[in-house]
Amino acid sequence: MSHTEELTGTGERTGVAELAGSGERLRGRIHAELTRARRRSQLLTDAVDEHDLVRQHSPIMSPLVWDLAHVGNQEELWLVRDVGGRDPVRSDIDDLYDAFKHPRRDRPALPLLGPVEARSYVATVRDKVLDLLDGVRFGDRRLLADGFAFGMIAQHEQQHDETMLATHQLRVGPPVLTAPPPPRATVPVAGEVLIPAGAFVMGTSTDPWALDNERPGHRVELPAYLIDAAPVTNAAYLAFVADGGYADPRWWSEAGWRHRCEADLVAPMHWRRDGADWGYLRFGRFSPLIPDEPVVHVGYHEAEAYAAWAGKRLPTEAEWEKAARWDPDTGRSRRYPWGDGEPTPEHANLGQRHLTPASVGAYPAGASPLGVHQLIGDVWEWTSSPFQGYPGFAAFPYREYSEVFFGPRYQVLRGGSFGTDPVACRGTFRNWDLPIRRQIFSGFRCARDAGPERAYPGDLGRTR
Ligand SMILES: [Fe+2]
Repeated sequence: MSHTEELTGTGERTGVAELAGSGERLRGRIHAELTRARRRSQLLTDAVDEHDLVRQHSPIMSPLVWDLAHVGNQEELWLVRDVGGRDPVRSDIDDLYDAFKHPRRDRPALPLLGPVEARSYVATVRDKVLDLLDGVRFGDRRLLADGFAFGMIAQHEQQHDETMLATHQLRVGPPVLTAPPPPRATVPVAGEVLIPAGAFVMGTSTDPWALDNERPGHRVELPAYLIDAAPVTNAAYLAFVADGGYADPRWWSEAGWRHRCEADLVAPMHWRRDGADWGYLRFGRFSPLIPDEPVVHVGYHEAEAYAAWAGKRLPTEAEWEKAARWDPDTGRSRRYPWGDGEPTPEHANLGQRHLTPASVGAYPAGASPLGVHQLIGDVWEWTSSPFQGYPGFAAFPYREYSEVFFGPRYQVLRGGSFGTDPVACRGTFRNWDLPIRRQIFSGFRCARDAGPERAYPGDLGRTR
C-alpha cells in the first residue's frame, strides 16, 4: 500500500479480484493491529497488582483499570454498536467511561469495573469485534472506507497504552517493566539544518487512517529557516539548568514564569539530585543522566525558556512538518522523514521496545533527506503552534475527536515518542496538550529564522 502524497491519487483503476484481495489484506492488517494493541494493554495492566490497577498514581492520570475499560467501551460504541449494528454489551457503563463527563481526578471515586470485570468486559467486546470483522464490507460507509473505524480504534487503544506507560512512570514502587536499552549513536549529529524557502504540502487527504485533524492536505509557503538536526539533549539542557535558567525570568514567557514559580520547577520532571550531579528516575530505577540522550519530561514553558536562552525559538508546527516530510528532489511530502515505508526498528525508537529515548545519532536510517534526525520516535516535540484545524477542516467522525480542543489552550506536539506505537505515528500526526504538562514523553528541538543572507542557497540571496 502506498501512502504517497500527491503522486498516487484515488483515481487508480482497480480490478474486482484485486479489490477482494485488498479487502482480505485489510482484514488481516486490522486483526494484527488490534491484537498487537491488546497485547500491549495486557502487558501494561498485568505488570502490576490489583491495588496498583485501581489506585490513582497522580491526580492528572486515570487509574489503569479505567483506561482499560475505557478502551473497551470506545471499541464497543464504535465497532460493536455503530459499525456492527449489534446489541450493547454493557450500555450501563457508557457514562462512567465517557472522558468528557468525568475529569481524571474524579475517576477513582466512580463505581468502576474492578480488574476482573474490566478484563472480561474488554475480552467480550473484542470477541464480538473479531466476529464482525470477518463479514464487514469496507466500502459501505465513509466510516468504514479503508477500515478507518477499526484503524481509529487501534490507534485509540495504542494512545491509551502510551498514557498507561506515562502512569507507570509516575507510579511509586519497585520496578515492574523491563526492556533492552535503545541502540547507541553510530553517527555524530549536531548543529542546524537549513530548510530552503518554498511551499510544501502539509497534512494529508489520502492517508487512509489519518485522523480528522491531519486533514486536508494543503499547501503552506514558508520562508527559509534553520532547525536543529536533533532534539535538545540532556547535556544541552543541563547547561541551561546550570546557567540558572530556572531562576531567570528573562527566558520565560509571563505565563511560563508564573507557572515555574507556582509549581516550583527547577529541572525536568523525574530528574533527581545525585550529589552534585543529576540523575533520573525511570520506571522505578534511578540512573545518571545520559548526556547525548534527548531531554524528556519538559513542559512547553520549559522548552520555550530553553530556546530563548539559546538565542533560538521553537519551530512552528509547519516548520516541523516540512523538515520531516519535504523531499527537496521531488517537492513531494513523504509519509515519514525516510520515505513512505512503515517504520522499522532501524528507522525510529517507537513502540515501547525501549523505555528511554535513544542517544542522538542512533537512527541514521531514519533521517530526512536534508539530514534532520530523530523527528519520529524518542520524544514528542513541542511546537510553537496552538492546536487549530487546517483550512478546510471537517470534523470526523465526531466533534469531540479534535475540534472541541481547537484554540489557544493547547500546544501541538509532533513526532511521537519511544512510548508511541507506529500505528499512531506518522509525519502528519498531531498530538496536543496543555503547556504545563510534562508527565508525557515530551522534549523539543529549536529553530530560528534563516535571515535574508541564508534564504537562498549559494550567492543568490546576496543579489536580492
Ligand atoms: Fe480515550
